[in-house]
Amino acid sequence: MTDAELRTMISKTLTCRIDKRENCGEKMDQFLERCFYHSGQYDSQENFAELDRKLKEHEAGRVSNRLFYLSIPPNIFIEAVKCASLSASSGNGWTRVIVEKPFGRDSESSAALTKALKQYLQEDQIFRIDHYLGKELVENLSVLRFSNLIFEPLWSRQYIRNVQLIFSEDFGTEGRGGYFDNYGIIRDIIQNHLLQILALFAMETPVSLDAEDIRNEKVKVLRSMRPLSLEDVVIGQYKSHTKGGITYPGYIDDKTVPKDSLTPTFAAAALFIDNARWDGVPFLMKAGKALHNKIAEIRVQFRHVPGNLYNRNFGTDLDQATNELVIRVQPDEAIYLKINNKVPGLGMRLDRSNLNLHYAARYSKEIPDAYERLLLDAIEGERRLFIRSDELDAAWSLFTPVLKELEEKKIIPEYYPYGSRGPVGAHYLAARYNVRWGDLG
Ligand code: BG6
Repeated sequence: MTDAELRTMISKTLTCRIDKRENCGEKMDQFLERCFYHSGQYDSQENFAELDRKLKEHEAGRVSNRLFYLSIPPNIFIEAVKCASLSASSGNGWTRVIVEKPFGRDSESSAALTKALKQYLQEDQIFRIDHYLGKELVENLSVLRFSNLIFEPLWSRQYIRNVQLIFSEDFGTEGRGGYFDNYGIIRDIIQNHLLQILALFAMETPVSLDAEDIRNEKVKVLRSMRPLSLEDVVIGQYKSHTKGGITYPGYIDDKTVPKDSLTPTFAAAALFIDNARWDGVPFLMKAGKALHNKIAEIRVQFRHVPGNLYNRNFGTDLDQATNELVIRVQPDEAIYLKINNKVPGLGMRLDRSNLNLHYAARYSKEIPDAYERLLLDAIEGERRLFIRSDELDAAWSLFTPVLKELEEKKIIPEYYPYGSRGPVGAHYLAARYNVRWGDLG
């Protein structure tokens, strides 16, 4: 590609969406002029040295910082980092590297990756991205908890019955099967995205908003968790389904997936935090591809009102009377609280209504994409939303034993039709802990 071709490519998606300055066109031109294309082998120190020479020409002696963003397969991370750090790191500014997950496949491979990266980089140069941490509503979790009086006092086993973290996509692996088959949904979504949300949700109050203070609390809560056991997980895999005359392919119909693959495309899990705040509260997670909808949300189900005077209004279905706080991460960002309310009229009938903070209605501003926030943070050296290596170790140690057991015992996933609500096993798992998934209404 030439520089001009690269610039044309970038300009197709470049906007002043967030920073709507009047001289947007001018700003974009200035930006594009600074974009250059340089090709080379990821494992060639010589090619990186050429890149270094080229960068130096543009820098013309000024202090220069370098941020390498590795959007490459994990098996070539180390080589690329080695070449970048040995042949193309900044001589007079900082050098940082953004790494995309997967950070290994289990505790051992993740530890090996961390060790290898540390041969070439200091921990403070490594920015491990979990893009869910860059989502607006995930960022807002701490604000909601720590800057409102009404939530934090209720944020414990005393008032919360269970917490649900739900991720669902209405499309399958669609050509990404080659990557996905090696990892599966537990490694792809649960061990990172959902667990990171859980850590922010459940951590104690940090000493300050400093990155290290926040990450210390996240590590503490992760280390208080019980490793997931095989009894507490349900796995599924989507199969082909025909609806309205259209046939949707099954997971193994993806050409990049082996026909006998047992890789889960769906999993539900019950996790527990063995500390004073959360003892006995099930944290239920559910993640799947090729389901009926696309959503990511946190559901907090509160306990029943003791001796509720109005129980008769709900008959035997006490769940219907439970307060539930829903944080909808995407799409259509919202925070709403289900409360019991009197239906207006002369009689006394109650129903559940929502106190609703609907972002689109409340804020006229566009919500930045997770990557917009995270790339800016990496440039500014803000580490709060990136994963520290001890967090990563703690996260892997929760899932490594069960992942090994699932693979060694060749556990057959429960098959579910493309576009459905997923395996029924997820309901049995929840029911074992007296929980009903909130997304079922
Ligand atoms: C990625 C996973 O980390 O997150 C994908 O590898 C998944 O499988 C994606 O589709 C979901 O991200 P988002 O931001 O579209 O919800």
